[in-house]
Amino acid sequence: MKQLQNKIVLVTGGTSGIGRLVAIELARQGALVVVWDISEKALAALEQEAKEMHISIQGMLCDVSDREAVYRQSREIKERWGPVSVLVNNAGVVSGSTFLETSDEKIEKTMAVNTMAHFWTLKAVLPDMIARNEGHIVTIASAAGIIGVTGLADYSASKFAAFGLHEAIRMELRRLKKNIQTTVVCPFFIDTGMFAGVRTRFPLLLPILKSEYAAQRIVQAIKRGKKRLIMPRFVYSVYLLRLLPVSWFDGLADFFGVNHAMDHFKGRS
Ligand SMILES: NC(=O)c1ccc[n+]([C@@H]2O[C@H](COP(=O)([O-])OP(=O)(O)OC[C@H]3O[C@@H](n4cnc5c(N)ncnc54)[C@H](OP(=O)(O)O)[C@@H]3O)[C@@H](O)[C@H]2O)c1
Repeated sequence: MKQLQNKIVLVTGGTSGIGRLVAIELARQGALVVVWDISEKALAALEQEAKEMHISIQGMLCDVSDREAVYRQSREIKERWGPVSVLVNNAGVVSGSTFLETSDEKIEKTMAVNTMAHFWTLKAVLPDMIARNEGHIVTIASAAGIIGVTGLADYSASKFAAFGLHEAIRMELRRLKKNIQTTVVCPFFIDTGMFAGVRTRFPLLLPILKSEYAAQRIVQAIKRGKKRLIMPRFVYSVYLLRLLPVSWFDGLADFFGVNHAMDHFKGRS
C-alpha cells in the first residue's frame, strides 16, 4: 500500500468534481497536494477549505492547455516544494453536441485539455520520476475512451487518445524497468455536473456514479497501485462485445442506450 505522507501530488482541474474530492482525500492521507485550475476564486476557496480541515492543498493558476504555462508552473512546484511524486491528469471539458454541431474551437479545446495537456504534464514530471526511480501517473480517461458515443465525438476521441498515450507510456516505463506506477481510470457518467442531463437506460447495470464513490475508488486504486480502474464493472463488457461483428456491437450499444445517453445533455450551466 502506497504511503502518501509528505509526497508531492499534482492534481489538474482540482477545484471541482472528482479532482477536488481526490485532492482532498490525498491531502487527508498526508500528501502535499498542488491543485491546478483556471479559476483564481475557486483555487482560493479550496485553499481556505483545506486550511479549515488542517490539510495541505496549494492552489496554482494553470491552464493545462497552455504548454508553456504547464512547464512554467511545473518548475515552480519543483522549486517551492520538490519533485512531483504523483501526477493526476484530471482536468477535462466536454462539448456535448453531435459532431457537425460542434464548433472547430470547441473541438480544439477538448483535444487541448483532455489530451494534449497530458503530453505536457508528463513531459514536465516524468524526467524527475525516472531519475528518482519513484512516481505514479494517473490518467482520468473515461468509459467514452473505450467506446465511441453519439454526441461525444470530440470527447471520445480525446479520451481514446489519453488512454493510448497512457498505455504507451506504461510500456515505455516497463522497458525502462523503473519503479513508476500507472493507473488509468475509465468511469461511466458521474454526478459531478459535467454531464448533467444524461440518462442511462439500465441503471442497475450502468448507474450514474456518485462522485464521492468514484473519488474514493480512484484514491484506493492509487494507493493499491491498481493499473486500470473501470467503473461500473459492466463497462468491461465492451472488451467482450468487440469480439463480435461490428454491426452486432453497434446494435448492442444501441440496446444498452449508449447512443441515446446524451440526448438530454445539459452539462454545466
Ligand atoms: N463527470 C463524468 O461523468 C465523467 C465521466 C468520465 C470521466 N470524467 C472525467 O473526469 C475528469 C473530472 O471531471 P468532473 O466530472 O470532475 O468535471 P468537473 O467538475 O467539470 O471538473 C473538471 C475540472 O477541470 C477544470 N478545467 C477545465 N479546463 C481546464 C484547463 N484548461 N486547465 C485547468 N483546469 C481546467 C475545470 O475548471 P472550471 O470548473 O473552472 O472550468 C474543473 O475544475 C475529467 O477528465 C472528465 O472528463 C468525468
